Amino acid sequence: MVELTRRGTVGGLVTGAAGLALASQKAAAQAPAPAAAEVPAYAASHQPKPLPFDPKALRGLSEKLIVSHWQNNYQGSVRALNTIETRLAEALADPDFPPLVHGGLKREELNRTGSVILHELYFGALGGDGIATGTIREALSQAFGSFAAWERDFRRTAMALAGGSGWCILGYNAHTGSLHNYWAADHMHAASAAAPLIALDMYEHSYHMDYGANAGAYLEAVLANLDWAVIEARYRAALGRPA
Ligand SMILES: [Fe+2]
Repeated sequence: MVELTRRGTVGGLVTGAAGLALASQKAAAQAPAPAAAEVPAYAASHQPKPLPFDPKALRGLSEKLIVSHWQNNYQGSVRALNTIETRLAEALADPDFPPLVHGGLKREELNRTGSVILHELYFGALGGDGIATGTIREALSQAFGSFAAWERDFRRTAMALAGGSGWCILGYNAHTGSLHNYWAADHMHAASAAAPLIALDMYEHSYHMDYGANAGAYLEAVLANLDWAVIEARYRAALGRPA
């Protein structure tokens, strides 16, 4: 009798909790959704950033290649991200929008967000003389045994992506407090908690125009044009110690 009473009590609690959840969902569904323009998260206002260097001035990377990459691949992702955000804002105003369709939009939001950020980091660290200096050089030397060893690891990580797609990323892992070269298969694939310091585009569109399938020559050209002052600033920001 006691057992039955307990079961009845637990059942009543479960039923009550489920009822509250259903009531909460119903209330959320019936609440007036904000108009698309009132949703800052889906403002669809991303603007492409200009190249921070003269595209004619890079060594071993042609103006035609850089401008095509910047205009078509990068700006294409900026436009796509705005389109996705517009669709998500519209979906927010629809209480019956199917989660399955929402999931497709959210996946593309993640994909395009990664593409925009990584391309901005990529272009943002070009235009230099390729000579590593500063605390980041010292930190990489300590992390890998020598700066040459870091370069060897970075080259191998990049070349593991040759002939396909992906990103080679030097990241500061805030969870472990350490520097690593990360292999990323696509715009959505990155180590958790790693702040990107160098994002090297290994998609074929980033080199095929100049180098055909010779990804190794492209890699050397990028290394020769890295702006280590920018990478140093990113490292200091990741550490919470901006210059
Ligand atoms: Fe790209």
